Amino acid sequence: MPAPESPLIIALDYADLGAALQLADALDPARCRVKVGKELFTRVGPVAVEALHRRGFQVFLDLKFHDIPNTVAGAVEAAADQGVWMVNVHASGGRRMMEASAERLAKRGLETHLIAVTVLTSMADGELQETGVSGSALAQVERLATLTLESGLDGVVCSARESARLRELCGAGFLRVTPGIRPASAGQGDQRRVMTPDAAMAAGSTHLVIGRAVTQAADPMAALADIERTLARRS
Ligand code: C5P
Repeated sequence: MPAPESPLIIALDYADLGAALQLADALDPARCRVKVGKELFTRVGPVAVEALHRRGFQVFLDLKFHDIPNTVAGAVEAAADQGVWMVNVHASGGRRMMEASAERLAKRGLETHLIAVTVLTSMADGELQETGVSGSALAQVERLATLTLESGLDGVVCSARESARLRELCGAGFLRVTPGIRPASAGQGDQRRVMTPDAAMAAGSTHLVIGRAVTQAADPMAALADIERTLARRS
């Protein structure tokens, strides 16, 4: 499978496989990766991943596992056995949960990247505090990213607003996968900690997750081409 140079990961957030594959068939696996999330996977299952692999895509299986260590390690292993490029857990599941997952992959020699969600990009400080976390989203992201690094994972899902700080804190090689990406012309929807694609790359994101800005655009391929042009102007 080709490894695209592009940092773009297109979120195939659809309720049926036909719609997801329709967009995938318009995309080029040499120019982006794709993400299968909870909605599509819950409806369709591993068939979605297989269909995308057959088309040559590297797949990020974004199921954000959060459970006891043994259960999450088993789920991560099951994802890696499907040959996905990346899978994730919630860092708030704790050190033992993350270590068990990383150890399981290492023991099996599976090369799937394992990353952890720090704080959802849909959450701002006030909403986070309602869940019992005192302090800012940034402080919580820093705490969970450090824990993720110490637990042996490859990187985090965070907001691009936190990428620069996490590059400094966790090192350049630690992946910073950032959803909440919104081209200047798009609305923010339910996301709160958002950034434009070029600003996110400038801030130190290693990968950009882009969903509705492409999938809900009147012309998805034109929207994607616009984003690619913005990024090309940077390099
Ligand atoms: O449509 P939009 O670009 O907001 O989609 C973002 C995608 O990234 C969704 O699939 C969402 O589930 C995912 N995601 C997120 N925030 C995280 C982790 C994943 O928005 N912290």
